[in-house]
Amino acid sequence: MQSISAQRLPKQQIRIMFDRARELEQGGRKIIHLEIGRPDFDTPPHIVEAAVRALRDGKHHYSANAGILELRQAVANKYRNEYGMSYDPGSEIVITNGVAEGVFLAVNALLNPGDQVLIPDPRWVNYAPDAFTALTEPVSYTLVKEEGFQPDPEEIASLITPRTRMLLLASPSNPTGGVIGPEVFEQLARLAIERDLVVVSDEIYEKIIYPPALHICAASLEGLRERTIVLNGLSKFYSMTGWRLGFALGPQTLIDPILRYHQYMITSTTTFAQWGGVMALQGDQGPSLAMVEKFRKRRDYLADAVDRLPGFSCTKPSGAFYLFPSIAETGLSGKELSQLLLEEAGVATVAGEHFGRRGAGHIRISYTNSLENLKEAVEKIQAVTRTL
Ligand SMILES: Cc1ncc(COP(=O)(O)O)c(C=O)c1O
Repeated sequence: MQSISAQRLPKQQIRIMFDRARELEQGGRKIIHLEIGRPDFDTPPHIVEAAVRALRDGKHHYSANAGILELRQAVANKYRNEYGMSYDPGSEIVITNGVAEGVFLAVNALLNPGDQVLIPDPRWVNYAPDAFTALTEPVSYTLVKEEGFQPDPEEIASLITPRTRMLLLASPSNPTGGVIGPEVFEQLARLAIERDLVVVSDEIYEKIIYPPALHICAASLEGLRERTIVLNGLSKFYSMTGWRLGFALGPQTLIDPILRYHQYMITSTTTFAQWGGVMALQGDQGPSLAMVEKFRKRRDYLADAVDRLPGFSCTKPSGAFYLFPSIAETGLSGKELSQLLLEEAGVATVAGEHFGRRGAGHIRISYTNSLENLKEAVEKIQAVTRTL
């Protein structure tokens, strides 16, 4: 027995690659993991200590549904200090179980069955399935490769119908690393206002961005705050993927239904983890900044090296920790090439088609691995692709 929405949920493909890589490792093969979307660093110790202290101090009971006030306050301070924006921790911020929950809540709490939600293509794998859970219809807009994988506002305008209610944006993007610049952002803001769309902005890679690119918080654009849910979290910049801490910010009219959904689904996120979250936002930012600097060095090396591989063409993205090279000239599909690279070169990547139709002809490479391993991976890929 399963619901109509469950029937529409596909099996997660990225896991299949990961599981095969593990199988090969258990058989004694060395595998270089470039398929995983998480930093290869541990959570900084001062954050871990804060959570351990919270546990010892008995901070292990339920928290308020919206999360401990101290963490909501820390989130509000962050947005005030970094963007000059004011959010009321009492009514405009919810601590979620990662951005993953935030996206799910945004579509389920704000939309009705049959509504359309505009989502990027290529995109993070959760957006379309999340739309299916709410019996809404995901409509894909293109991230234009020639424009650094930015959306094209004209194309988006042409996709809007009377049923379109929501525009989902993600910058920096997974899987492309693309960053939406100020001009495109302003056009998108005007469009959202003219066509009365709610904007959901996934900003999880906010701080994994490389100069001269600058992050723009969607709600900071003129006229957007009142119609925007900003989703952000601690998973990436603080390397806290397993802590499951995210936050949703928005006007009370949008946050209130999200909080009601969250209350029945999750109750509240893990209390002692939230205390670690307070330390993440208020404590030493040095380890996270050092991590981003390492990512930048790896990106600089790897984008050039991948671009030189036979059949590959790779631009240098401005954010996140992914490359999304075109591999069309190898003559193989993303799936065929990623399987070949895993089996023959011992390098795990992800086929571009897993991220949407427009991801075909690409693979995603995460540079969440040491520079030394990245160099070895390039040599191994070269040896395999040379023979194609
Ligand atoms: C674009 C994007 N949004 C959200 C997430 C999930 O974030 P969280 O760990 O906060 O649920 C990911 C994880 O890979 C992601 O790439």
